[in-house]
Amino acid sequence: MLRTHSLKQAAAIPSCSFDIPRHTIHVRKLGTMESISRVGVVGCGVMGAGIAELCARAGLDVLVGVSRPASRDAGRARLTGSLDRLVGKGKLSARDRDAALARISFTADLGDFADRQLVVEAVSEQESVKLDVFATLDKVVEDEHAILGSNTSSFPIVQLGGVTSRPENVVGLHFFNPATVLPLVEVVGSVLTDASTVDRAEAFVTELLGKQVVRTKDRAGFVVNALLIPYLLSAVRMLESGMAPIADIDKAMTLGCAHPMGPLSLIDLIGLDIVAAISESLYLEYREPHYSPPPLLSRMVSGGLLGKKTGRGFYEYPR
Ligand SMILES: NC(=O)c1ccc[n+]([C@@H]2O[C@H](COP(=O)([O-])OP(=O)(O)OC[C@H]3O[C@@H](n4cnc5c(N)ncnc54)[C@H](O)[C@@H]3O)[C@@H](O)[C@H]2O)c1
Repeated sequence: MLRTHSLKQAAAIPSCSFDIPRHTIHVRKLGTMESISRVGVVGCGVMGAGIAELCARAGLDVLVGVSRPASRDAGRARLTGSLDRLVGKGKLSARDRDAALARISFTADLGDFADRQLVVEAVSEQESVKLDVFATLDKVVEDEHAILGSNTSSFPIVQLGGVTSRPENVVGLHFFNPATVLPLVEVVGSVLTDASTVDRAEAFVTELLGKQVVRTKDRAGFVVNALLIPYLLSAVRMLESGMAPIADIDKAMTLGCAHPMGPLSLIDLIGLDIVAAISESLYLEYREPHYSPPPLLSRMVSGGLLGKKTGRGFYEYPR
């Protein structure tokens, strides 16, 4: 049987300054200047909430799309909790928290995204769900130059663009977890994406959100996950083989390689379902055995042990 441990260190995420510039970016659009001030974020889980918070704190009007009205409260609670923690740590004033929250609204109807100038889709890593969202966004977003971005970790951007009538405006905008803290965003143009869309997306991410960008090709896993996921899967295989217990595998990598957290803690933070989905996409693309999901990971996902977000993965996270 899988042993679980409680782990306080898993919550210890490296801190950052949170100095986000508060201005509206001006980016080139076919020779004219356009300001992006109305952003949409679809999905308000781990990543969607972080991206929405980031955009609101950058001074943007943020509309968050949730799957059903009941998810609105959960999404708002997630965002409010995150901003409250910053206020508690003295990293954000109560006034700025209130201003950020006032810029965020929620809807369960993607029809409300009609006036958005840039949308980041951050729904579950399930192809059919993402394709539905892109097909709907294509119908409702009125600005023909609006950027339609996906935070997918592994699905081909060309497929997401392919269900729209404007694949030239569709890009990967791959933020990292926690989105408010980690400085990197991978910007991914597909074979159908306009170079100007990639330029505008990069300008948005760097100049407005204060992040750094790596541009990558539209291949499963992009750069970071193509390298990271085989390592994480190796840790699961090592556990499965009985070579070392959970805590020792993590300890080996934190103390032996100075990683900020061990691989099994990191899988818990990312979400076991997300790691499994990325693994499947990588395997589908490359057919290399080291990308395939280990049985233990698949069984834990089937059992609802998704990591920190559900309170139990390789470790336990008391609420
Ligand atoms: N977790 C990570 O570390 C991480 C890092 C980078 C990228 N990503 C990617 O970000 C995306 C979201 O991942 P997450 O970790 O936030 O997952 P999550 O499970 O925490 O959140 C997904 C959210 O999407 C919602 N959702 C599902 N269908 C929807 C719909 N049709 N409309 C609106 N909301 C819908 C779900 O209710 C859930 O709240 C995935 O594509 C994932 O690969 C995740």
